[in-house]
This record gives sequence, structure tokens and C-alpha cells, in this order.
Amino acid sequence: MRALVMLLALFFIITLDSSCGSLASNVSCLENEREALIKFKGNLTDEANRLRSWAGKDCCTWEGIGCSRRTGHVMKLDLRNPISYFSEIDYENSLMKELGGEISPSLVDLKHLSYLDLSGNNLSGVDFLGSLKSLRYLNLSSSNLVGKVPRNLGNLSRLQYLDLNNNDLVGPIPNTLERLTSLTVLDLSDNQFNDTIKVPFFPSLGNMTQLTVLDLSYNQFKGEIPNSMKNLCSLRIFDLSSNEFSGEIVSPLYGCIRTSLEELNLMFNLFTGQLPNHLGEFKNLERLLIDGNSFSGPLPSSLGRLSYLRELTARDNQLNGSIPVGLGQLFNLQTLDL
Ligand SMILES: *[C@@H]1O[C@H](CO)[C@@H](O)[C@H](O)[C@H]1NC(C)=O
Ligand SMILES: *[C@@H]1O[C@H](CO)[C@@H](O)[C@H](O)[C@H]1NC(C)=O
Ligand SMILES: *[C@@H]1O[C@H](CO)[C@@H](O)[C@H](O)[C@H]1NC(C)=O
Ligand SMILES: *[C@@H]1O[C@H](CO)[C@@H](O)[C@H](O)[C@H]1NC(C)=O
Ligand SMILES: *[C@@H]1O[C@H](CO)[C@@H](O)[C@H](O)[C@H]1NC(C)=O
Ligand SMILES: *[C@@H]1O[C@H](CO)[C@@H](O)[C@H](O)[C@H]1NC(C)=O
Ligand SMILES: *[C@@H]1O[C@H](CO)[C@@H](O)[C@H](O)[C@H]1NC(C)=O
Ligand SMILES: *[C@@H]1O[C@H](CO)[C@@H](O)[C@H](O)[C@H]1NC(C)=O
Repeated sequence: MRALVMLLALFFIITLDSSCGSLASNVSCLENEREALIKFKGNLTDEANRLRSWAGKDCCTWEGIGCSRRTGHVMKLDLRNPISYFSEIDYENSLMKELGGEISPSLVDLKHLSYLDLSGNNLSGVDFLGSLKSLRYLNLSSSNLVGKVPRNLGNLSRLQYLDLNNNDLVGPIPNTLERLTSLTVLDLSDNQFNDTIKVPFFPSLGNMTQLTVLDLSYNQFKGEIPNSMKNLCSLRIFDLSSNEFSGEIVSPLYGCIRTSLEELNLMFNLFTGQLPNHLGEFKNLERLLIDGNSFSGPLPSSLGRLSYLRELTARDNQLNGSIPVGLGQLFNLQTLDL
């Protein structure tokens, strides 16, 4: 009996010891990944010395780097400019904090990189990014990018967030992006895209059924909203403002998009026709912004059923008729601009 107890005790000590041992052993940066990051740093200008912590063996402790605690692989590279480009007060500061130069293709050695945020910097050399197969999050907003969206971005089949906002990218948007069916956020706003809706990319948007945010605002996109949009059952924010979209909006907005949408921004386009009466079925709609189009006819009386509506703006259209009585019952309405 005593022998058995001792044996059990010994067993516990051994197992405890070995598990503690694996916890205590610091899994640190892998050498080839450290080298890849050093190369990446070597190609960047860094006036504010933001990368001063990038020295020494353990790259997992460097500014902006996140590693898997289990394997030590670099999973995250977040070098977002800490000062927003859009804050006027801090514009100069923002420029000072910019990293500049070409993104080194050495990053392909970070085989497990799933999160890459280089937004707010002054960068080029994005052509290889389609090789970063593990990416789920890619943020290159306000990065001074020029040229076309690389075709190989379509290879990032795990991508859930793609933010290319506020660059100088031009069309055509490659049809390869139709493979990005895991996207939940797609932001192409504030670029120089002038594609017509005929390019294959647009109908394929209807296949991105996980989308919650689709922002195409501030470009020169042309044409009618594709009917496939109505299948986007998770879409909460749909922003097409400041483009040259045209045609009627009745059928593309008749589908399960009705139940999810919280914000519909169609401002400053060339839309025509009447506002569909089924707008009243967009139960979760909080903001409906249609200023600066050529919508005609009456405001649908069904708008009086949108109990979450906070903002309705419709100035600069050819709407006529009377204000639906039901609007008076929308207790959440804060802004009404006709
Ligand atoms: C683990 O890392 C910490 C600090 O990074 C250090 O203090 C500690 O000695 C290391 N432990 C081992 C077992 O290397
Ligand atoms: C990047 O750095 C490597 C040396 O590590 C150099 O050969 C290459 O020319 C650099 N590229 C640019 C665009 O500066
Ligand atoms: C990308 O980064 C900018 C800041 O540079 C931020 O405002 C934006 O929300 C980010 N996009 C996503 C999809 O997280
Ligand atoms: C951005 O980088 C380019 C060179 O790649 C340079 O000509 C330009 O002045 C930089 N812009 C800013 C705002 O630093
Ligand atoms: C990545 O995409 C490009 C262009 O779309 C394609 O030619 C290439 O075969 C793809 N590579 C891989 C490894 O999937
Ligand atoms: C898009 O812009 C480019 C360059 O300004 C121009 O050559 C092209 O014809 C435009 N495409 C459309 C569809 O307007
Ligand atoms: C969208 O998905 C359907 C099947 O779900 C497929 O038949 C169609 O080719 C896809 N369209 C595009 C443009 O990828
Ligand atoms: C609204 O305008 C249309 C012509 O665009 C006209 O047929 C209709 O009678 C007008 N309705 C009202 C209530 O003024």
C-alpha cells in the first residue's frame, strides 16, 4: 500500500513537473521569422524611431508583434500609425510617425501571420501580399498606395477584413476578389476606382454572404446596384455614397438584406425612380441617407414603421407629396432633413 502511494505521489510529481516545465520554457521568436522582420525594418524609414524596440533575439517582445504562445510563430504585425491621419490638429504629427518605403517581401516567411495592420503609413510594394496565406485581417487604409489592387489578393481565402480605405488605387477591381467569400468587412472607400458595374467583381459581391460592412463610398463607380446584393443577409452597413451609381433601387434591395441593414447611405449618386414601399420592412434601419440623387415621387408611408430610425436625410431630390404621418411616431428619430 505504502509503495503504491509513493508510486502515485511520484507519478504526480513527475507529471506536475513536466507540465510546469513546458509552461516555464519561454517559447520565443523563431530565428527565420526574426530575420524576415529585420529585413522588413531595413527597408523602412522611421523618423520617429517607432521600431526602436526591434533589436535583440526575441522578436515576440518587439513593438507591434504578436506571437503564438504555443508555437512562437509571429501571428500579428500591427504598425498602424498611432496618430490618425484624419485629425486635423495632429496632421503634422501623423506625418512624423509615418513609416515609409517598400514593404519587404521577406514577410512571406511569416507563414502564420494572420493580422497585418500597416495603416496610416507611406508604403508601396503590396504585390506580394497575396502570398500571406494565413491572413484574416489586412488593413492598409491611408497608406498612400497607388496603382491597381493586386490580383493575387484573391488567394487570401481566409481573409475576413480588407480595408483599403483612403488610398489612390485605380480600377479595375480584379475579379479574383470574388474568391474572398469569408469577408465580413470590405472597405474600398475613398480611392479612384471608376469601374462600371459590369466588371465581374460586382455580381460576385452577392456571394460574400458573411459581409457585415460594405463601403464603396468616395470613388467613381458607375452603373446599377447588382441584384445579387439582396442575398447579403448579414449586411449592416451599406455605403455607396459619392459615386456615380444609377438606376432604381427597388429590386436589388428586396431580399434578406432587408432584415440586417442598419445603415443605407446612397448620398450623392445618380439614382432615379421611386423609393420602394418595402423600405418599411428594413426593421433594423437606423440611418437612411439619400441626399443628392434624382429620386422622385412620394416618401413611402411605410417609413413610419422603422421604429429604430434615427436619421433620415433626403435633400436634393425630386421627391414630392406629403410627409407620411407615421414619421411622427418614430421616437428614435433625431435628424429629419427633407
Ligand atoms: C522567460 O522570459 C522571462 C522574461 O522575458 C525571463 O525573466 C525568464 O527568465 C525566462 N524563463 C526562461 C525559462 O527562459
Ligand atoms: C530592401 O533591403 C534590401 C537589403 O536588405 C535591399 O537589397 C533592397 O534593395 C531594399 N529594397 C528597397 C526597395 O529599398
Ligand atoms: C483600419 O485602420 C484604421 C486606422 O488607421 C481604422 O480607422 C479602421 O477602423 C481599420 N479598419 C478595420 C477594418 O479595422
Ligand atoms: C511618401 O513616400 C514617397 C516615396 O516613396 C515620397 O516621395 C513622399 O514624399 C512620401 N510622402 C510623405 C507624406 O512622407
Ligand atoms: C495566386 O493568385 C494568382 C493571380 O490571381 C495566381 O496566378 C496564382 O496561381 C495564385 N497562387 C497560388 C499559390 O494560389
Ligand atoms: C477610368 O479612368 C481611367 C483613367 O482616368 C480611364 O482611362 C478609363 O476610361 C475610366 N473608365 C471608365 C469606365 O470610366
Ligand atoms: C456565386 O455562387 C454561386 C453558387 O453559390 C456560383 O454558382 C456562382 O458562380 C458564384 N458567382 C460568382 C460571380 O462567383
Ligand atoms: C409628383 O410628381 C409627379 C411627376 O414627377 C406627378 O405625376 C405627381 O402628380 C406629383 N405628385 C404630387 C402629390 O404632387
